[in-house]
Amino acid sequence: MNNNQKCKKGKVFLVGAGPGDPGLLTVKALKVIKSADIILYDKLVGEEIIKMLKDLNKKIIYVGKKSKENGMIRQNEIHTLIRKFVDEGKTIARLKGGDPFVFGRGGVEAEFLSKEGIDFEVIPGVSSINSVPTYAGIPLTHPEFSSSILVVTGRDDIDAWSKAPLHGTIVILMGRDTIQELCNRLIKAGRDPLTPVAVIESGTTERQKVIRGDLLTISETVKETNMNGPVLIVVGDVVKLSEVIDHHV
Ligand SMILES: C[S@@+](CC[C@H](N)C(=O)[O-])C[C@H]1O[C@@H](n2cnc3c(N)ncnc32)[C@H](O)[C@@H]1O
Repeated sequence: MNNNQKCKKGKVFLVGAGPGDPGLLTVKALKVIKSADIILYDKLVGEEIIKMLKDLNKKIIYVGKKSKENGMIRQNEIHTLIRKFVDEGKTIARLKGGDPFVFGRGGVEAEFLSKEGIDFEVIPGVSSINSVPTYAGIPLTHPEFSSSILVVTGRDDIDAWSKAPLHGTIVILMGRDTIQELCNRLIKAGRDPLTPVAVIESGTTERQKVIRGDLLTISETVKETNMNGPVLIVVGDVVKLSEVIDHHV
């Protein structure tokens, strides 16, 4: 059997929807969305983008994780759904927040599609990693302040990455619940307690909220601020630049 015979009829596009601002959806992503029969989307796809999808009068299905649900079970359900639609010969746009290959299980889905012999394409998206700090006026590198970027999640083995170089920018995804521990570990690992930190909620959207502090103070401020949306944390001297750049983004 050659590859073409092995491929089932439908096709899947794994599409990055960007961080929330519909203006950051790529031209290619929009084209794929408009041509798809069915759209499967995740929790982090921006509200305004979802509104736009609804206006397209297509079949759109939410497949994001419900709170406390086991991620792997949900992933298997998504695979089953994709296989069903592919067997019906449908073109599916599988929308994921940010970039599909950045902490979003896009790699897991691509592996599944490949193993199943399903025809697929990946459309990269604008990741929150760089776009969310940019909308808060924070350049991740700067000749004077930082020439490296470490990207981690607050759910990882904090002990391992907190020993990373003492200079440079750290971008932390999914770190709201562990922010106090994160800051303590970084101080213990030798970072200056007065290192600036920014916490950005729902970046790039109308609900964007930015709070600033340092490794000693930020977790208290986060506790006092009601934050329910996705949160990205930036640690490093580059955060200082937001004071001069913020109003120009
Ligand atoms: C499962 S990861 C997915 C990342 C995504 N694939 C990307 O490339 O941006 C989800 C985390 O990304 C961060 N994130 C995504 N969009 C964000 C936004 N608009 N504002 C702040 N953080 C965001 C948050 O840390 C959130 O918990």
